[in-house]
Amino acid sequence: PVPPATPQYRLGYHFAPAAHWMNDPNGMVYDRGVYHLFFQYYPDGMTWGPMHWGHATSPDMLTWKEQPIALYPDKLGLIFSGSAVLDVNNTAGFGKNAMVAIFTHHDMDEEKKGTKLHENQSLAYSLDGGKTWTKYAQNPVLKNPGIQDFRDPKVSWNDVAKKWIMTLATKDRITFYSSPNLKDWSKESEFGEKLGAHGGVWECPDLFPLTLNGKTYWVLLVNLNPGGPNGGSATQYFVGQFDGKKFTPLNDKTKWADYGPDEYAGVTWNNTGTRRLFLGWMSNWDYANQIPTSPWRSANTLPRELGLKQVGEEIYLTSQPVKELAKLAPAPRKLTGLTVKPALDLTEKLGLKDNKFMLRMKTLQLNDFTLVLSNAAGEELRLGYDKGANQYFVDRRKSGQTAFHEKFAGKHLTPRLATGPAADVTLYFDATSVELFADGGLSVATELFFPSQPYTNVKLLAPDGLTVNELTFSKLNSSMPTA
Ligand code: FRU
Repeated sequence: PVPPATPQYRLGYHFAPAAHWMNDPNGMVYDRGVYHLFFQYYPDGMTWGPMHWGHATSPDMLTWKEQPIALYPDKLGLIFSGSAVLDVNNTAGFGKNAMVAIFTHHDMDEEKKGTKLHENQSLAYSLDGGKTWTKYAQNPVLKNPGIQDFRDPKVSWNDVAKKWIMTLATKDRITFYSSPNLKDWSKESEFGEKLGAHGGVWECPDLFPLTLNGKTYWVLLVNLNPGGPNGGSATQYFVGQFDGKKFTPLNDKTKWADYGPDEYAGVTWNNTGTRRLFLGWMSNWDYANQIPTSPWRSANTLPRELGLKQVGEEIYLTSQPVKELAKLAPAPRKLTGLTVKPALDLTEKLGLKDNKFMLRMKTLQLNDFTLVLSNAAGEELRLGYDKGANQYFVDRRKSGQTAFHEKFAGKHLTPRLATGPAADVTLYFDATSVELFADGGLSVATELFFPSQPYTNVKLLAPDGLTVNELTFSKLNSSMPTA
């Protein structure tokens, strides 16, 4: 039975399917003005089930139109996660500019036999811009050598190797393969068996270059479930070099693209030129199947533009909400020189109604603060910065509905990586989610909450005093259908 609908939890400017279950973003590729998003989708239920690739398209990564299902399960198995490329030079022979999806076929019957051969990589292609799809007749193209978890191929053209490079999650490490034509794959190297976080299985990797001060580095994203910094699933990354065959990290420090509990399976778009654009699934495998929304379950994070930043000796990944969001905030308001000690009630200034807004605070002297959002039902979401611990935090213990899973309630911590007293903290709220981008995207956290009614009161607490040099605030218009 479908639980009663929860239109109050519909997100205004994040993608969620109209109905049914969604997990990982898949096959993200930009093609002639259209951002394509495919996604792990179960069209017959609101919990994880036999996987399809759902499909949505957008001109700006914010206004999404759901399209017909792209890939259905077949006799080789369910359609698990993967990527898509534009084969501009027709290397595969499917046709010029074919959109080619490279995905994992997951065979449930084979899995039951326990042979460990149930995950293989396959192809499908579209010659009409992603509308209709044909599975390659000789699937699979990369057969499992006997590895239990052998999935989530991320394929991109590599200018150094002059070949396609596949970054594949192979249980506790990443295996790189290369191919001239997307059909014949050769193993190049393995990475990570003894590096990074290993609290769970490695999934959904990505490999891409970014520049910092004129120098190119390669970033390897590795999603991990469980073993995230705040429990459950999360996205770790390595910064290093890739010579077309082998990835060499700069060091062995474990780093996280998003510290919050609710960003997972995040990967980037192919074919977006010098912009590197990231999208994650806004949930956590700990409780994803229980979150109290209906008739859909799960949304994606905001699209984020990635960069690199050096802090001391370390090079970190930065994530910033995409600049396209400004279109949804036509008239931001700015307050300057606010002194908070011990508290400032922002309720009337902000005039919140539906938890769809952004708020940005800049200070020259960061100090302890807590932003408390609350409603008439006595529910509250608290988030802020703890100077002693040098951590940002989000506390959703009293935020509303939390009892649907024992792991949902909690106070979650995000280390502050920036040094120096000047800080800026940007928050995007959308009905049931908050995304925190601090210090130019060095510290990022995504968090869900389910209040029984929207928060309408906002208070900023700073018992030791805080000067907010600039506070920018804007309601955000919806870019998605809201009911
Ligand atoms: C990650 C994941 C992938 C897999 C897919 C199945 O969330 O477990 O590794 O391909 O989900 O839906």
